Amino acid sequence: MYIDSTSKMSINPIFNPNGDDTIENRSIWFGNTTNLMQLNDVRYTWALGLYQQMRENFWIPQRLDVTQDVTDYWNLTPEERHAYDGILSYLTFLDSIQTCNIPHLKSSITAPEVSLCMAEQISQEAMHNQSYQYIIETVIPPDRRNAVYDFWRTDKVLKDRCEFIAKLYQKYIDNPTSENYFIALVADYLLEGLYFYNGFIFFYNLASRMLMPGSADIFKMINRDELSHVRLYQKLIPEAMQIFPHSVEQIYEMFDEAVKHECRWTNHIVGNDILGITEASTERYTKYLANMRLRSIGLEALYSEEKYKKSPYTHLERFSDTKKEAHTKANFFEATVTSYVMSSGVSGWDEI
Ligand SMILES: [Fe+2]
Ligand SMILES: [Fe+2]
Repeated sequence: MYIDSTSKMSINPIFNPNGDDTIENRSIWFGNTTNLMQLNDVRYTWALGLYQQMRENFWIPQRLDVTQDVTDYWNLTPEERHAYDGILSYLTFLDSIQTCNIPHLKSSITAPEVSLCMAEQISQEAMHNQSYQYIIETVIPPDRRNAVYDFWRTDKVLKDRCEFIAKLYQKYIDNPTSENYFIALVADYLLEGLYFYNGFIFFYNLASRMLMPGSADIFKMINRDELSHVRLYQKLIPEAMQIFPHSVEQIYEMFDEAVKHECRWTNHIVGNDILGITEASTERYTKYLANMRLRSIGLEALYSEEKYKKSPYTHLERFSDTKKEAHTKANFFEATVTSYVMSSGVSGWDEI
């Protein structure tokens, strides 16, 4: 039974003495929580496992060595350098708005175990921004640093892209109905599950050519965190589909529009001058990812052609560190095993 699409989402009170934290009456949204983190009794056990996993993923950007990247930066072609700066700028935007927006979604969550995961997600998104700052300060020369943050001011395609993504979140803030909450949830899933990955591929591609290994090391850690966020929304969206008014056509439209925006931006910033990435491979990869993300929330694939069934970048997967067999892989070009414990708490991220 759907709730009314125009009904306002309720924001949890700071403390609700008349709340009921029993498992039988607990729900992710529209419950009557006291707002205490009552985690002794848990209805959504997957959330505790996911939280544990997110905590085990803990890492500190400054512990990763980017010194080779400082000299490599000047060995990039001008096109690669331009793409490097532009992608960093775009990813900074994504993590900035996530840090800002997730608290809005979280404030209506009435299952504390799910709130717990979102609190950790917010912390990770903030830390991702710090990792971009670390890269920018270490690798990018002083006279170009501000330009990375301000890239959207001079690049119209990036500005359009940022506005398009922000608009779907802002819509809920301006008019916090249940319908707009659901749209913001799907927008969040698209950001976590689709919008980062052509950027990650760019850095893995450079690393596969022995360039910018420190940056790739940082991005593989961010990639791993983002996949834990993908997993969170893969759990939340099917639950939300049972409660919130929506149509499947609307979800498909959002995905298709997201794919078009993602391809347009990637083609713009990567162009046709970077070895190993073409407009065709970007389209294939983005549609492949969209299909996979749809299937994992219980929907049919949107792009049925055979070519969208497989990633064109499987040769770069070994750089991503998201596969089970790569968990104890050494840092790039180093003999030492990475100082971070890899995702031993799950049996690989293959399904996401
Ligand atoms: Fe992030
Ligand atoms: Fe994220």
